[in-house]
Amino acid sequence: MPTVAGPRSQPNLRRLTRPDDVRAALESPALIVPPVPAVAIPAPTAAWLRATVARFSSGADHDRRRAATVAELAGVDPARLRRRAGVRTAAILAPGGHPADLVGPISCTVPVAVLAGVLGCADSAGPEIGTSGERAGESGVTRAVADVAEAYLPRPDITVAEEARADRAVAALVRLFGGVLDEATAMRISLLVQTRNATAALVERAAPDVRGAAGAGPVEAAIDAVLRSDPPARSTRRMTATGAIVEVELAGPELAFGAGRHACPGRAQAIALAAGILEALRAADRRRPPGAPTAGAPAARPADRP
Ligand code: HEM
Repeated sequence: MPTVAGPRSQPNLRRLTRPDDVRAALESPALIVPPVPAVAIPAPTAAWLRATVARFSSGADHDRRRAATVAELAGVDPARLRRRAGVRTAAILAPGGHPADLVGPISCTVPVAVLAGVLGCADSAGPEIGTSGERAGESGVTRAVADVAEAYLPRPDITVAEEARADRAVAALVRLFGGVLDEATAMRISLLVQTRNATAALVERAAPDVRGAAGAGPVEAAIDAVLRSDPPARSTRRMTATGAIVEVELAGPELAFGAGRHACPGRAQAIALAAGILEALRAADRRRPPGAPTAGAPAARPADRP
């Protein structure tokens, strides 16, 4: 399979696992996010997206992009996301959908679709949204975001086909956000992409704990337990001044959303989206006849970098 980076190469990674070391590394000005290649002429591609977002930038570029990201999220009310996530989850389950079968499809689509709607993305509530099986919850925007998310984090084994799929998806998302190739559009796309896999993993891992009698308490307790013991994004990377890559594990108190300059700015939104979905899944479970299987069979999901 041809890869974008040529033959596979895995640098000799140094790993940090002790929470104190991890926090110190994430807060250290000497370690930066490994940079991505600059793009000379803007074009709606995955390479343009990576080169234009806060996630992969440093210095003044990061400060400016981060400020724009935080300002955008200041207008995204978590309570609104929670309500909308609940309503959308209930709509997917309504036609007799089986919560246990639909946890995976719901977790992969509802957070992105709800956030896309609040951010003003054109096709977020497209009429073709599926309500059953593998395609439950899918729309143009959720499919495009899934394709970008596969290729967003630079990795040496990304194939030419994956990169091309991500390019087409970025082009579609740029159109859905109004067609202007600028940092604001890249930032909005990045919010959806950053949301996708980590929030899905959080929902899937918390779902078993909110079902049945054991799940009578607030869903926040189940969310908190996952964030503390089984972080949805397991690790991230930094680079030293000499170009060595350091892998840092995000396990430990208060590390699930990172730390330092790049710490996740979408924490409140992520928790709200997950809570809205989990409440709707639990409500659907409770409506099911006694003895029927309940929501919570987590779909196998690989550990992810945020
Ligand atoms: C459970 C869900 C989530 C988890 C566990 C998570 C975790 C993280 C972590 C650990 C980072 C830091 C990466 C690093 O330092 O290298 C990060 C960055 C980021 N996250 Fe999240 N995230 C989640 C959901 C979200 C959501 C819902 C949004 C948007 C609404 C979001 C937006 C971002 C952005 C924009 C960045 C880059 C920030 C920067 O580089 O300055 N995340 N996330």
